[in-house]
Amino acid sequence: MTTMTDATTVDLVDDAAGSGPRDRPVLVLDLGGQYARLIARRVRDLGTYSEVLACSVRADDVAARRPSAIILSGGPASVYEPGAPTIDPAILKLGVPVLGICYGMQLMARELGGEVTSTGVSEYGGTELQPIDASRTLLDGMGERETVWMSHRDAVTRAPAGAVVTARTAETPIAAFEDAERGLYGVQFHPEVVHTPRGQELLDRFVRDIAKAPATWNPETVVVEAIERIRAQIGPTGRAICALSGGVDSSVAAMLMHRAIGDRLTCVFVDHGLLRQDEAEQVVATMDGRFHLPLVHVDARERFLELLAGVEDPEAKRRVIGETFIRVFEQEARRIAEGDEPVQFLVQGTLYSDVIESGGDDGVAATIKSHHNVGGLPADMELELVEPLRLLFKDEARRVGEELGLPHELVWRQPFPGPGLGIRIIGAVDEPRLEMVRAADAILRAEIASAGLEDDVWQYFAVLLAGVRSVGVQGDARTYAHPVVIRAVTSEDAMTADWARIPHEVLARISTRIVGEVAGVNRVLVDITSKPPGTIEWE
Ligand code: XMP
Repeated sequence: MTTMTDATTVDLVDDAAGSGPRDRPVLVLDLGGQYARLIARRVRDLGTYSEVLACSVRADDVAARRPSAIILSGGPASVYEPGAPTIDPAILKLGVPVLGICYGMQLMARELGGEVTSTGVSEYGGTELQPIDASRTLLDGMGERETVWMSHRDAVTRAPAGAVVTARTAETPIAAFEDAERGLYGVQFHPEVVHTPRGQELLDRFVRDIAKAPATWNPETVVVEAIERIRAQIGPTGRAICALSGGVDSSVAAMLMHRAIGDRLTCVFVDHGLLRQDEAEQVVATMDGRFHLPLVHVDARERFLELLAGVEDPEAKRRVIGETFIRVFEQEARRIAEGDEPVQFLVQGTLYSDVIESGGDDGVAATIKSHHNVGGLPADMELELVEPLRLLFKDEARRVGEELGLPHELVWRQPFPGPGLGIRIIGAVDEPRLEMVRAADAILRAEIASAGLEDDVWQYFAVLLAGVRSVGVQGDARTYAHPVVIRAVTSEDAMTADWARIPHEVLARISTRIVGEVAGVNRVLVDITSKPPGTIEWE
């Protein structure tokens, strides 16, 4: 293959003093695997900033970011397939340590003169790895047999010249190789998944011992940098309004903004009528009453319900809600600015995972849902967006929240989507249906809390199947009413999730209470679908 750029090299002498938390990052090149983001997260857990880039990035753009290491992700393709994802080969000559994982390893082998073959043998799932070369560095400290997670059809059948083979499995003679001199490492297995028990240790060895990446990514440095970035964007006199929902993301964003620009920030809490029971009162009591953030409470319930009337399609609902949000904010911004300096900025608590799942900045990830605060924005917005959490994963945002002194119960509150109960009614939204789903949700939350399961279950809520009715019998009378679905999941960052194993006796209490107390509901179902293939929300 032709070289896209001449080989430049990255100066590895560290200019440590005054370096920011995102200096010398570990760059993950996305070769189409579902795990690229997970790799970045694992690296950040080690205290080094990591970011995912499209694999088409050129070597000189990579070099310009002065990475301390590069990781090539896995991917479903076959390296010799026409159109298979590839990288600028000059990236392997930058003098920066490179770790290729699965497809990334195969691509590296091919680029460096090794050989990859479709051997007809595939390995999926837990596999026994046998480290074989005593001089290995990446696999140093591994036992004679280690469990690793495999998912591949092709395999490296000849390691590149200069590389030593450092591990095998029963089926794959070259399960890892390394050329320590040139800083090139390949592993056929996935160290980033929890099913590789010593995977994080391996990443630590690569990032810290081999690449000598700085450990500067922590909540304290993230806060300092975020405040600097906000000030740079907004300038010395700019004014902003913050869309406050009461959830952890927007609360953390609001607190960061308040630290950065003080009372040039006004928080706007829009009650769109799609909130959970007592939520509006709680938000006002916490943010205004306790933290004294300048807060305007807008009651827009009627406006949202009118616009949502008869809308059934999930994406159409999200668009209506997203657009109406923005219009209400613009109106408030104008009102707040009256007779004063204009408001030019709108703050949102958008997270890295929202960006990814709405199609990603680079357009590589598929659009799964238009999260209202990203994909659903109208094109003709009057306000410029400020997104102080755009680079953070959910649990990182939570740690930043703790660093900012937000109360534990708010920081660890389960996520609640911007479109609220609007996407938990399957069918058109109206007030009677909202009442049903709100009441069912309140019962579910109360029972999870009284069973002490709040910290074990990542997210739990009720979904009303408004278009379905079934026959029941209650108090000797026939009913013909709606089912409610209990959705409860465990997750780390909402990118993947498993259904939560809630004890049967708790489910029984929830079911009895919902059918007994919520008029219009006569059946309770439990959703036992993981993500993928399901998503967490039903719409
Ligand atoms: P899904 O349903 O995509 O949800 O598996 C992943 C996580 O994102 C939340 N979610 C949203 N959050 N605006 C938000 O702020 C949205 O439009 C939205 N849609 C889903 C969802 O509750 C889960 O935690």
